[in-house]
Amino acid sequence: MATVTSSNFFSVFLSSRLGNSRRCFFQPNSLPILRQTFAEKVRASSTAFVETKPTEPIVVDKEVRTSKNVLACPICYQPMTWIGDSVLSVDSAAGSSLQCNTCKKTYSGQETHFDLTAASGTKGYGESMPPATEFFRIPLISFLYERGWRQNFVLGGFPGPEKEFELMKDYLKPVLGGNIIDASCGSGLFARIFAKSGLFSLVVALDYSENMLKQCYEFVKQEQNFPKENLILARADISRLPFVSSSIDAVHAGAAIHCWPSPSTGVAEISRVLRPGGVFVGTTYILDGPFNLIPFSRLLRQSMMQISGSYAFLAEEEIEDLCRACGLVDFKCIRNSRFVMFTATKPN
Ligand SMILES: C[S@@+](CC[C@H](N)C(=O)[O-])C[C@H]1O[C@@H](n2cnc3c(N)ncnc32)[C@H](O)[C@@H]1O
Repeated sequence: MATVTSSNFFSVFLSSRLGNSRRCFFQPNSLPILRQTFAEKVRASSTAFVETKPTEPIVVDKEVRTSKNVLACPICYQPMTWIGDSVLSVDSAAGSSLQCNTCKKTYSGQETHFDLTAASGTKGYGESMPPATEFFRIPLISFLYERGWRQNFVLGGFPGPEKEFELMKDYLKPVLGGNIIDASCGSGLFARIFAKSGLFSLVVALDYSENMLKQCYEFVKQEQNFPKENLILARADISRLPFVSSSIDAVHAGAAIHCWPSPSTGVAEISRVLRPGGVFVGTTYILDGPFNLIPFSRLLRQSMMQISGSYAFLAEEEIEDLCRACGLVDFKCIRNSRFVMFTATKPN
């Protein structure tokens, strides 16, 4: 693992971008310095993107998939028929429904989203997920998420949504023009950026929290001239994705894998729905450095998980291992402090 200082950061960053190798940025300094240095770094990296734009126009694959036929029944994973408005948009969920061609279960669109969880349509039955999932269903948490909460991620090294999008575009280049799922989208900060970028034929904003999806819907509604076409809001569990196998070009999961009840089931599902050559990009906090020196830290973490039912942060090699175990290849990552952006691809 290479150590990159702020003085040689820019050249290493550019050369690693060109060489597509793993990028690791270390910030051992105090917090105020860390924030300042990283701000400089990110500016440097985004400048690099801006500078390459005129000479490297983004070429979008013209062969656009039929937007609606990627949706599958979460019970039997078979394709569903869209009944309703022929124009796909955020607004067309209300008044539309989806029917499974095989088991015939119908999923009625709600005002803000489709509920594509297995339990959708139950009347008296209720179940609760582990704390890290249930927490984000609380209306106040969903409300606060983009109103100050997410901004604090910068303290852990997250560069912020716009810069994160700039960084991930590099990884997403091979699948631009295709469809993308923003898995565990929260209030849809990235799903909205994806939709506005015009770089994807379909954007699915997916989260288990109905309140996060409601926030996403409100943000979309508030923004003038938002391109609502080809954006769907879907409530679903990451462990049971409502998409046809091998139908998805890209999956993004921002700051999410550490919140999933079972990261392995989530990544396995992502691998199932990605088409050959499809790309998975995720971000999370990394658990390493001094944490890994604690004797039996991994064992301790696993025991804590068994008790709490929620997962904790992973080490970089654990994420790589997990992607490989779930059939994804070509793992790469970029690091800053505890922030990591990683990518892996479904083999062709
Ligand atoms: C920290 S937020 C990340 C939001 C956004 N992607 C971002 O980059 O800021 C984690 C999200 O994971 C979602 N989540 C947790 N468990 C989930 C599950 N089992 N299935 C789908 N989403 C889940 C939560 O509802 C929450 O919105």
